Amino acid sequence: MPELIVALDLPDREKAVSMARQLRGVLDWCKVGLELFTLGGPRLLERLKEQGYRVFLDLKYYDIPHTVAQAVEAAAVLGVDMLTLHCQGGKRMCQAAVEARDGASDACSAPLLFGVTALTSFGTGEMPGITVHPGVFAQDLAAGAARWGLDGVVCSGHEVRDIKAASPGLRCLCPGIRPGGADAGDQRRTMTPAEAVQAGADYLVVGRPIIEAPSPAEAAAAIVEEMRAASVAPAAE
Ligand code: C5P
Repeated sequence: MPELIVALDLPDREKAVSMARQLRGVLDWCKVGLELFTLGGPRLLERLKEQGYRVFLDLKYYDIPHTVAQAVEAAAVLGVDMLTLHCQGGKRMCQAAVEARDGASDACSAPLLFGVTALTSFGTGEMPGITVHPGVFAQDLAAGAARWGLDGVVCSGHEVRDIKAASPGLRCLCPGIRPGGADAGDQRRTMTPAEAVQAGADYLVVGRPIIEAPSPAEAAAAIVEEMRAASVAPAAE
């Protein structure tokens, strides 16, 4: 069954730790992104690990190969379980990241490496310099990610079937997940949890529909239940 990851996109370290505590019985993964890592740094990751979470560090690395390799090594030392880098960093950057991860000492974690394709907030015509639909662009980048040895890609649920058909070993992590009726906000290429699971997603990342809900634990539990039901039910064509 695919796994649910909560995006702890909160403006305060203590709020994030307390949100994580509320959700601990419902899910195993939490995501720390730009805002929260800037506020909380490595100590915050440690506190989430102390709660038993698997930690996804979503800083979307994009830099020269040497710098990205060093950053991957640093994340491994911090015990990060999964991290993101941009596929647009290209072959040498992505391969340097894989080598750094594979070379991390036994004392470190070996984080899963996920390549960001086209952000789920991009609709048609919104990616600077890119004329094809973001979904087509995502598929091209995913093919590169598979060749360069990444474990998976970040993509919208709409792209999962084609990406998996071309690269069956690549895992797909999908943000832009909106339970029926939830506000899409800035996201464009959205899907419900059930649709994304039926498309073959391996991980779903959900932020606002959980953390802004009146009861985050109930909202997360409802998504897990929707995922469970979809993973045993045949997809409606
Ligand atoms: O609140 P919402 O469910 O839209 O949060 C989605 C999370 O996934 C955010 O933390 C965002 O940074 C992240 N993300 C994304 N699209 C990507 C990669 C990460 O929305 N391509």
